[in-house]
Amino acid sequence: MKHMKKMLCLALGLTMSLTLLSACSGGGTASPSPSASAPSPSASAPAPTGAVLPTIEAGKLIMSTNAAFPPYEMVTDAGGFEGIDVEIATKIAEKLGLELEILDIDFTPAVNAPAEGKSDMCMAGLTVNDERKVNLDFSTTYATGIQVVIVPEGSEITTIEDLDGKLIGTQAGTTGYNYCSASPEDGGYGEDAVIAYDNGAIAVQALLAGKVDCVVIDNMPAQEYVKANTGLKILDTEFAVEDYAIAVKKGNTELLTAIDGALDELIADGIVQSVVDKYITAD
Ligand code: ARG
Repeated sequence: MKHMKKMLCLALGLTMSLTLLSACSGGGTASPSPSASAPSPSASAPAPTGAVLPTIEAGKLIMSTNAAFPPYEMVTDAGGFEGIDVEIATKIAEKLGLELEILDIDFTPAVNAPAEGKSDMCMAGLTVNDERKVNLDFSTTYATGIQVVIVPEGSEITTIEDLDGKLIGTQAGTTGYNYCSASPEDGGYGEDAVIAYDNGAIAVQALLAGKVDCVVIDNMPAQEYVKANTGLKILDTEFAVEDYAIAVKKGNTELLTAIDGALDELIADGIVQSVVDKYITAD
């Protein structure tokens, strides 16, 4: 616990302005971080037309994701895909003259897909962290995620201090799972305290069914799940603040440079912000 609080304070200190920003707008803003609008060293114009980018299938940009993560990626009633990531990826593909194809699989395989040659990029509200940097290279950051805690209304859990001894639901393979399942010395609650579900929606169903005491998940999906189900609320205390970015296979610099060029333009033109704004739901 002590470590986690330290980590939390550090994270909050570093990103105070962002946290305040999201607090002011109801906690749901995943705004591009300040660094996102600054020119990144690897940024350059998208590949010149005619240049063949090193994608798995010529002319295509295959994006692996787990589309149970609203408002970043979700399946429409008609069986298509929508969400912040889907719209940004569509615009990146357009700029690069590629056709976007979405590979919707479980989260862990979606993260591993670029390194395994199964996708060109993973875009999944994906948090940048050192563990993932072993096999992946990350783009410019385009959003901020905050790990929050969902509890049933009337729960005896009122702050993260109360999580000790409780059963925590998470999505398998996510940073939320990693924080919570870490040993108490490392600021977590230990593996036995955490259940990993295939995705956030299933974790929330388990919470509603009383199988876990809370769910730790990213703030924007948390708000969507709470809105879609009665009897749930989000704790005011935040768990950790993170950056979202697109990941490609480590060493695929040509593709990453092209993606970054397109993404940086979309950020500079305010398009990323307008896509994010479109999906921020008024309470
Ligand atoms: N931000 C968290 C992570 O990177 C959770 C992302 C889950 N994304 C998804 N599309 N299901 O670990």
